[in-house]
Amino acid sequence: MSDQLACLTADVPVAGTLRVELDGVDGLVEIAIVRDEDGGWHALSDICSHGQVSLSDGDVDGCTVECWLHGSRFDLVTGRPLALPATTAVPVYPVTLDGDRVLVDVDTPLNS
Ligand code: FES
Repeated sequence: MSDQLACLTADVPVAGTLRVELDGVDGLVEIAIVRDEDGGWHALSDICSHGQVSLSDGDVDGCTVECWLHGSRFDLVTGRPLALPATTAVPVYPVTLDGDRVLVDVDTPLNS
């Protein structure tokens, strides 16, 4: 497990998103840091499983993020799409808070 600094807590408001790039074993990994509407922290692949668009450009609704292009909503905990057209989950990663630092481990997805 290798936690990396993704951002600071002040960088992402409740129901907000932030796109970051972190070092993975095969190169840079595009990550969406997302806070749900209850303030919980999540990290998932920033690339929608239906198309090559950024999920961090979507809207947070409850504990989901909605892809802006075709409207699939992804569960922030499981990464699973809850609505078509996407049918494949996106990877989700462990998030750890260390004071005001948001750490993400991209080496050990929670749903693979
Ligand atoms: S590109 Fe995201 S739902 Fe189609």
